[in-house]
Amino acid sequence: MRRFPFPAAYLLFLAACMPGAPKAPPPDLPSPYRAALEGLPPDILSRVQAAPERFDALVRAVRAVFAADPGLLARVDKEKALPPDYEPGDLVSLTEYPFALSRRDLRLRRAAAEAAREMDAAAKAEGLTLVFSSAYRSYGYQAEVYERHVREMGQDAADRVSARPGHSQHQLGTVVDFGSIDNTFAESKAGLWMAAHSRRFGFSLSYPRGAESVTGYDWESWHFRYVGREAADLEAEFFGLQHWMLVFLERLSEKGRKP
Ligand code: DAL
Ligand code: ZN
Repeated sequence: MRRFPFPAAYLLFLAACMPGAPKAPPPDLPSPYRAALEGLPPDILSRVQAAPERFDALVRAVRAVFAADPGLLARVDKEKALPPDYEPGDLVSLTEYPFALSRRDLRLRRAAAEAAREMDAAAKAEGLTLVFSSAYRSYGYQAEVYERHVREMGQDAADRVSARPGHSQHQLGTVVDFGSIDNTFAESKAGLWMAAHSRRFGFSLSYPRGAESVTGYDWESWHFRYVGREAADLEAEFFGLQHWMLVFLERLSEKGRKP
């Protein structure tokens, strides 16, 4: 039998160079990224494969923030709790800021408050008022909030709208509830402005509409968590949901894996 004169790989290479030839498959992701993305929705992996360099640059920037300040990007949800005595060391009173406050005892971590100052100024420049309705909540205070919900609506309904103590992002000191604390906020001028602009200031909507099966909570158009600008970009460009980004970052950091 006559042997084919060219190695198959060479022919494949020639074919790939032909105009109109199918594109080469994307290069493999670094294995720590691939492992940390495993089991997440496939559209996340597709977006990462479409822009691997941008993804890597953002992840590196976000991991540097995470390493310097783990509380800023800690995963806190129905599975992951904070210890009862966890209280951030740099809480500041929001009365030090020119915010519209619904009560005077609101506190946030300084970085979140400073980012909120910029966001608030940008909103004011467009004639809008952001009303700060809730911010840091201690473990004990969250226990009261949760128990009140259980008394008023029963445990199953309470669990869709209120975190059990230790499981609230409010305990991190980086979350603000704005305005009415109900979904009429979404249609208000401030709510529409926040949906469009909060990312630019490093704030992320923790519980978007239609994501209850993932986040564990009904839509909360008013609950924004400060994650920093790089993480807000990483979430918007690749993960779609804050929850998936936090899962990914937690996996990367748990294994101490570096790409
Ligand atoms: N309403 C949110 C889920 C909380 O209680 O932290
Ligand atoms: Zn909230």
